[in-house]
Amino acid sequence: MRTDQAPVISRLQYAKPAYAIDQVTLEFDLDPDRTRVKNRMQLRRLADASADAPLLLDGEDLTLQSLTVDGKAWVYAATDGGIRLDKLPDAFQLDIVTACSPRANTRLSGLYLSGDAFFTQCEAEGFRRITYWPDRPDVMSRFTVVLRADKAKYPVLLSNGNLKSQRPLDDGRMEAVWEDPFPKPSYLFALVAGRLVCREQRIRAADGREHLLQVYVREGDLDKTEHAMQSLVHSVAWDEQRFGLSLDLDRFMIVAVSDFNMGAMENKGLNVFNTKYVLANPATATDADYMNIESVIGHEYFHNWTGNRITCRDWFQLSLKEGLTVFRDQEFSQDLAAQSGGESARAVKRIEDVRGLRAVQFPEDAGPMAHPVRPDSYVAIDNFYTPTVYEKGAEVVRMMQTLVGRAGFAAGMKLYFARHDGQAVTCDDFLAAMADANPGSALETHRAQFSLWYAQAGTPRLRAAGQYDAAARSYTLSLTQACPATPGQPEKQAQIIPLRLGLLARSGEALSFSVEAGARGTDALLVLTQPQQSFVLHEVDAEPIPSLLRGFSAPVLLDDGLSDADRLVLLAHDTDPFNRWEAAQRLALARLLPAVQDGGLKLDATYLDALRGVLHDTGLDPAFKDLVLTLPSEGYIAEQLGQIDPARIHQTRQTMRLALAQQLQADWEQTWHALAPTGGYTPDFAGAGRRGLRNLALSYLSLTGDAVWQGRAYQLVKDADNMTDRFDALAALVGCRAELAQAALERFAAQFAHEPLVMDKWFALQATAPGVEVSAIRTLMQRPDFSIRNPNRARSVISTFCQGNPGAFHRTDGAGYGFWAEQVRTLDAINPQVAARLARALDRWRKLTPSYAQVVEPIMRDLAAHPGLSADTREILGKALA
Ligand code: TRP
Ligand code: ZN
Repeated sequence: MRTDQAPVISRLQYAKPAYAIDQVTLEFDLDPDRTRVKNRMQLRRLADASADAPLLLDGEDLTLQSLTVDGKAWVYAATDGGIRLDKLPDAFQLDIVTACSPRANTRLSGLYLSGDAFFTQCEAEGFRRITYWPDRPDVMSRFTVVLRADKAKYPVLLSNGNLKSQRPLDDGRMEAVWEDPFPKPSYLFALVAGRLVCREQRIRAADGREHLLQVYVREGDLDKTEHAMQSLVHSVAWDEQRFGLSLDLDRFMIVAVSDFNMGAMENKGLNVFNTKYVLANPATATDADYMNIESVIGHEYFHNWTGNRITCRDWFQLSLKEGLTVFRDQEFSQDLAAQSGGESARAVKRIEDVRGLRAVQFPEDAGPMAHPVRPDSYVAIDNFYTPTVYEKGAEVVRMMQTLVGRAGFAAGMKLYFARHDGQAVTCDDFLAAMADANPGSALETHRAQFSLWYAQAGTPRLRAAGQYDAAARSYTLSLTQACPATPGQPEKQAQIIPLRLGLLARSGEALSFSVEAGARGTDALLVLTQPQQSFVLHEVDAEPIPSLLRGFSAPVLLDDGLSDADRLVLLAHDTDPFNRWEAAQRLALARLLPAVQDGGLKLDATYLDALRGVLHDTGLDPAFKDLVLTLPSEGYIAEQLGQIDPARIHQTRQTMRLALAQQLQADWEQTWHALAPTGGYTPDFAGAGRRGLRNLALSYLSLTGDAVWQGRAYQLVKDADNMTDRFDALAALVGCRAELAQAALERFAAQFAHEPLVMDKWFALQATAPGVEVSAIRTLMQRPDFSIRNPNRARSVISTFCQGNPGAFHRTDGAGYGFWAEQVRTLDAINPQVAARLARALDRWRKLTPSYAQVVEPIMRDLAAHPGLSADTREILGKALA
């Protein structure tokens, strides 16, 4: 059991394990109330361990039945979270029999039930809830798994690797034996047992080897597995093509489960997925769902090499696998998008990724939970599956690719596998392989400085100022970087920042230029390494407008010093789509921010004309226009302000949306008609882009209050032929508080009552409704189809309201905060991982204006003082209050 004062674990405390477990056989007699696990391990003391080194085994919520060393009972001592064995021989067999209760396991970590089926989740520290084990990623073993369970209730018995045998037993049970040929850490172990059906497909890989791919779901969901299978087939082909990495197993399985703490899990050969990232058909899934499924399936599949074949030495190195694998899934999605939608589709995907990074990682990096990509300490490792480790980690890997080029990056990956295949390694090892494979590159030259991206928390700020010298035809760009203090890191060193840039003439044409000794071109990469540094660009024919940080070449906050007029040129003409979008965001912010502070929003004709220009530009993709014409989120607006008044931000943004709706009404109408569907629904890039922009038009038009447009939206809720249009129409009605919204919601719920993932969207939509009252949230939670034990459902209502609806959640009467505290407490007793995530909804409370902050503080202190809280939740609250 975790003790009340959970210890802080520090990165620098790392010590190698004393024993290796070369081979293990696990026998499971599966029973919902009492599952027996026989664990037979072959151990060996490692050469550099001392002869009297104890063996430390983790264990949690287990009943120990017997323990023998080489067949003889052995004395063990209880430790804080497990047991310790002393005076052990150099090599021996350890047999441990334990029991656990899957039904009582509401944390969904370890072995648990979902519906009537058994599932496991072992990352990060769930295996210790199944058996005693050194539950750390640097202990890798060959697993043989024997599963026994009632044949009628659990006809499908799955574990990692290859099925060796399967036979009925005399007592009405079935036995299956699985063997995983690859040594793996315990966190990659998995088993599944239940009544499941599967879609399967055989593929022949580029190397000629045949593989069986399977997607397992509950009966009745088979008609929602085609897209997942397609995504898996694409993932296998992509990793072969782009990185020469092929599937190393005969059989690769995906299983969908509706009770799951996160998105999905990369267990070797047996990926387990939240149903949300598997199940899709046009009637139940939106375009965004289709995209997410493709990327999460890719992500877990890519872990087979980056995570499983090479794993993490300790959990501080989590970004070694997560940052790299997010980078790989982003590249995968970009490459697939580009196949159907060209370079513009690639840019759209990049913009979406950056928008996500800014919405969640930048705030994290500026708050009390700020931590380096490779953290230095933690209490509960589950709290460090963060946007910093994942998304900022992916940006760090992307900067490596930017610095060494695509081919250089592929060479670095090759060297990484040549050196470390089969090992548990560190972020430094990855960086070393990348640098060593690219001698003479900026990455190799500045490798030590580059590693600061792993060590320093906080988002660096970059300030740029330019000076044109007409006589010399030169443009001097002066850059200054600084990184604000973060908890535990008062001082920061200058980082290496790759800055891609181009120059535009005031007329909009690209200007060519040369960097010292470089060839003349319209795009260049500058590498900033000093706190202050100037770069001279030569052969510049006219005073330029700089287009800086193209493609978002580094995860920094940029102060580019540009004027409104400069940005209008960039919006209309930049050849870099990212910066075109960025110009629109900044133009919007330039109008929103003063209005949040002083009221009185004014939209000038030049700005409106610029937006109109984008909307009618036939050379631009609808998906790109959709991004340009969507205002920055309330969260992103809040980040730009010193003090946050969520209600004012919400009101101001709504006012601006209404102004855009009214001033561009004719343009929206034209857009709506021009983008009418031309055929049946397919979830491809072009179709999704058209639907996205057309439905954005519908939401603006509904916002004007026009009964005709609201009627059209209602009609779509009734008879759209796909979930994207149906749901967007419903959201348009709810978003403008149309009178028809209630009737539309009821119709929708009646139609999809038996589709849990669709109902999650329905719950979430109401939790984000403008001005929704806490009482309405409570009413939703009283419905018979609400269950706080199902993480998807709990998040769809509670987390969505507390984290996705700042305008309604933050109230000076504290009703939202009281609700939050109550739900954190309730959830914490059921599932600490889910509770700790919800606890983060208020971790940036100190940035709120005093009228809110002084209401939050006593509520948060009161919650934190509650004695029974989990270590996970206490870690979050403790940091927020520090
Ligand atoms: N490793 C998983 C991924 O990113 C995520 C993960 C970590 C997870 N811990 C988990 C999933 C707990 C479910 C439950 O691919
Ligand atoms: Zn991952």
